[in-house]
Amino acid sequence: MRTLALIALLPLTAFAAPAVDEARTASRIESLISRMTLEEKAGQLTLVAAVREDEESDRERKPGEPAAMQRQLAEIREGRISAVFNGIGADWARKLQRAAVEESRLGIPVLISVDAIHGFHTIFPVPLAEAASWDPDLAERVARATAIEASAAGVAWNLAPNVDIARDARWGRGVEGAGEDVLLGKLFAAARVRGYQKGAGATHLSDRDAMLATPKHFAGYGAAEGGLDYNVAEITERTLREVYLPPFKAAFDAGALAVMAGFHEIGGVPMMANRKLLTDLLRDEWKFDGIVVSDYAADHELVIHGVAKDDREAVKIAFMAGVDVSMTSRLYQQYLPDLVRSGEVPMSRVDEAVRRMLRVKFKLGLFDKPYDRMDAKRERALNHTKQTRALAREAAQRSIVLLRNDRELLPLDKRKAQRIALIGPFASRPDHLNGPWTVFDDRRDAVSVEAGLRAALGADARLSVTQGSGIDSVLPGGIEAAVSAAQNADVVILAIGESEAMTGEAQSRTEVVVPAAQQALAEAIKATGRPTIVLLRTGRALALEGAVRDADAILVTWFLAAETGNAIADVLFGDVSPSGRLPVSFPQRPGQVPIYYARKNTGRPPPPGPFQEYTARYRDISVDPLYAFGFGLGYSTVEYGKPELSTQKLAVGDTLTASAILRNTGKRAVDEVAQLYVRDRVGSVTRPLRELKDFERVKLAPGESKRISFTLKREDLMFLGPDLKPISEAGAFDLWIAPSSLGGIAASFELLGPAE
Ligand code: BGC
Repeated sequence: MRTLALIALLPLTAFAAPAVDEARTASRIESLISRMTLEEKAGQLTLVAAVREDEESDRERKPGEPAAMQRQLAEIREGRISAVFNGIGADWARKLQRAAVEESRLGIPVLISVDAIHGFHTIFPVPLAEAASWDPDLAERVARATAIEASAAGVAWNLAPNVDIARDARWGRGVEGAGEDVLLGKLFAAARVRGYQKGAGATHLSDRDAMLATPKHFAGYGAAEGGLDYNVAEITERTLREVYLPPFKAAFDAGALAVMAGFHEIGGVPMMANRKLLTDLLRDEWKFDGIVVSDYAADHELVIHGVAKDDREAVKIAFMAGVDVSMTSRLYQQYLPDLVRSGEVPMSRVDEAVRRMLRVKFKLGLFDKPYDRMDAKRERALNHTKQTRALAREAAQRSIVLLRNDRELLPLDKRKAQRIALIGPFASRPDHLNGPWTVFDDRRDAVSVEAGLRAALGADARLSVTQGSGIDSVLPGGIEAAVSAAQNADVVILAIGESEAMTGEAQSRTEVVVPAAQQALAEAIKATGRPTIVLLRTGRALALEGAVRDADAILVTWFLAAETGNAIADVLFGDVSPSGRLPVSFPQRPGQVPIYYARKNTGRPPPPGPFQEYTARYRDISVDPLYAFGFGLGYSTVEYGKPELSTQKLAVGDTLTASAILRNTGKRAVDEVAQLYVRDRVGSVTRPLRELKDFERVKLAPGESKRISFTLKREDLMFLGPDLKPISEAGAFDLWIAPSSLGGIAASFELLGPAE
């Protein structure tokens, strides 16, 4: 009643306005298109890299030749460029915008774009780390903060989030995404889109603190064979639809109005030429009406892939497959007009792509308020704010995963005057903190582990710091110095792992282990017998071996960025209880990758225990991971009761409630992540051994018990049938409410069919 009364009070225009706006926008777009030359149209489909005022190439410039910046401005004035990426600053952006809006023939605003993958100036934990928080709301807040900082510097378009599912730790770009799981992938994709675009559904996109999101890299880029970046991905349509596509769909459902096509190929068809995915699926099936942008010069790469004989043909193939916008190659600018004139590309296709681009610019408010995001004073005020920094610390704390804590070594007691030896190549270096894919960070700004520990412990801390080893090379005398530091300490904190350059784009590794020089350091420290805590810096799942695997305590600290040292100290000394959970399975050995929990049973599942011939396991190790997806400890122990089900038979239209009692059996408060997994025992196609269906965070005081409940409906149990259409099939299901994807007590129920 109340809502109805309220609605009655609102003026009619409150409802009519959006439709009127839409119609007005549409007619403004059509009017522009009708006045554009072919060259201007091709220009609207061209995204180029920003140039700086002091480009190196400018130094070799001949007298009278314009500088790179002048050339870029001239191109904007001529309507040959639609968007520019990875330039910096409100003043710079304003210059470009002035050239576009005030000095070009049609006054179409320029779109300023960046790669703000995990922060803009203030850098947040790498996305994989953030996914370890299992808290999409945190990811949304981080994306929001990123948008606020970036948009104040003129940015209206972010080339993020990366929503590639990554199940092969060798692939370096797993660090940019949310890990191996479909549900986590969907939730984080949607959350990050909402954060960048300021809410769901693109309704606030025109606000000056919102920016367009671009889920990437469409689609299946993370399935690169051998974990080799840019490599061929062999994915069946089923796997594509079941695993790799859902995060994209979730991003579009959240309102994303752009998507980036990847570099890779599937089944002989480079993504840039994949009409089935870029048009049939995106446009016809999903009704996506935003822009499809290429990855960096990926149109040109069609020639190198060997599906186009030259750049001209590459443009024709990519554009007709559905790529609306070309990044950096300038090939659309160069060839599209001629391809239209020769009749090889219909004008209607060009108009369609231009229409989409202009629509996005309208939605971003660029036509009506072109300078709204370009105010240098505001940029300064919103750069590195206290709140953003506090959020960076919170995000870093929540990303840390505790894998092991023998004899409750952690948390350390700050008040106890113990001697701490901080050892390792990542102990005090101010670099390798942010992780890969940052463009606008100020690296001096991040807090090292040493700085964080000193800040927490105060001036009289009995803390020694020793490097011990290089990242990838032995440091002469390093091990001896480290061993003597360890011997003079009560506890050792070993800061080891991967460098920034070991993960990220084009950083595939065959041996996903701690580099040998650091492993040797860890072995030498172990021989001292001192209790040792490993702080594992990494952008991927690593196979931990020897002294690293067997350390008394292990904290996965990823690349935590700006607040690394502070967040680590918060967790080490127990001011914050570790609550992260692995978003990727850690293998026992590198040869196990790709490894993921949602695997299939096979016809010969190995029995637990020793090696048995003719079963699907390795001779040398079991098929289990070293640490399972979803695993992570707190500073207490939690007991999970057997799941209780509201019914044994789930009928059509009904809901099943599964609940379990969780009890904190330890002495400290915990922040537990209870996870609901399901297995469909018999299907017309095979189903994974477990699928994550839901999860919930529960805080438990020492001794406290809480009942946690999840609900399931028939729709939650649907899957793609033999013809790849969603179906649900009656039959038996297993269910777990568990602390990770491995173990837990099973319950079972039956899903009834429509007639039962
Ligand atoms: C990456 C993209 C990125 C682009 C522009 C490419 O190499 O694959 O993710 O958006 O560069 O920086």
